[in-house]
Amino acid sequence: MKISNTVQWVGKIDWDLRKFHGSEYSTFYGSTYNSYLVRDEKTALIDTVWAPYAREYVRHLSSLIDLESIDYVIAPHAEIDHSGGLPELMRHIPDKPVFCSPRGVDSLRGHFHQDWNFQPVKTGDRLSLGSRELIFVEAPMLHWPDNMFCYLTEEAILFSNDAFGQHLASEQLYNDLVDQDLLFRECMKYYANILNPFSVQVEKKIKELLAMQLPISIICPSHGVIWREKPLQIVDRYREWAGAYREDQVSIVYDTMWEGTRRMAESIAAGIHEAAPLTEIKLLNSSKTDKNEIITEIFRSGTVLFGSPTINRGILTSMAGLLEEVRGLKFRGKKAAAFGCYGWSGEGVGILSDALRDAGFELVSEGLRVLWNPDRESLEECVQYGRKLAADI
Ligand code: FEO
Repeated sequence: MKISNTVQWVGKIDWDLRKFHGSEYSTFYGSTYNSYLVRDEKTALIDTVWAPYAREYVRHLSSLIDLESIDYVIAPHAEIDHSGGLPELMRHIPDKPVFCSPRGVDSLRGHFHQDWNFQPVKTGDRLSLGSRELIFVEAPMLHWPDNMFCYLTEEAILFSNDAFGQHLASEQLYNDLVDQDLLFRECMKYYANILNPFSVQVEKKIKELLAMQLPISIICPSHGVIWREKPLQIVDRYREWAGAYREDQVSIVYDTMWEGTRRMAESIAAGIHEAAPLTEIKLLNSSKTDKNEIITEIFRSGTVLFGSPTINRGILTSMAGLLEEVRGLKFRGKKAAAFGCYGWSGEGVGILSDALRDAGFELVSEGLRVLWNPDRESLEECVQYGRKLAADI
């Protein structure tokens, strides 16, 4: 698939993918591993595909081009959804130079234990392809230390690797040809679940990129569709998302054993809605809702309530697992509180509150506990709690 006079998409559409990063990330709409062939006087290949598709990829590539005529292999990131095709490719062209960031050398060696002809490049280094050049821009922690962008002069194409991508399989190559709601929903999910901990680096990198004043006509990420219509719209979204993003939304995330904590959640939601009728409220049962979808809802919320009954002096495992992920994702500028019912010892709310404080949330209350099964009076207390919370936030 031709992107410009010199650039061709040679990647893999993975319609089958339902889990990514092991089982950590749900990919309901599949994904793509984008690989690009750039043919000028010299030929460069940017990125490969995920390891299971390596043979298919190289077979397809060799039907398009004599592999020996690839002059430069560009490996902007060692994670195997990008570099998984390298061993099979390099088996055919073992002496070709492999361009990567200085950190990429370690990463690629660490993954494949091969001594390929590595050519480390830094930000600002240029590689002439003839009438065009590739300019390299290191992008550490977007989202590994080794990530790197590269920019093709003349055609003004930015190959952004993981940044600006989405897990979305489509036969349509371009952003303007797919469902816009789904596209931006998947972009946000990708940002919230993968890039959020590195928002400071994202902001910095975007500033640096814009300061380079390179015209950008197309952004080619390594996953999902290519941004050809208003390509900078996704850069603008990233700037917004990197700045402690929140909407007028409260998410109430909970798990429940015998429905007591669920009834608390619903009553709190009713109180918030009474006091703030325009605020979006989402109730999410953590044992029944996809974890990455919950993370995305937390990302867009200004305030998040976490609920669990007490069990064995602790909290329910779906909430414990979720909180571990929330801790690592380093959300900024969000308020939180805990709630839950209990029978005797009642440590759950305290455990949730401590975990939320450790995860960087601002606690807006000491939390709400209800003894045994909530009765009408307790549920009214939850409604009141919701009303007050809405006023406080
Ligand atoms: Fe698409 Fe960091 O891998």
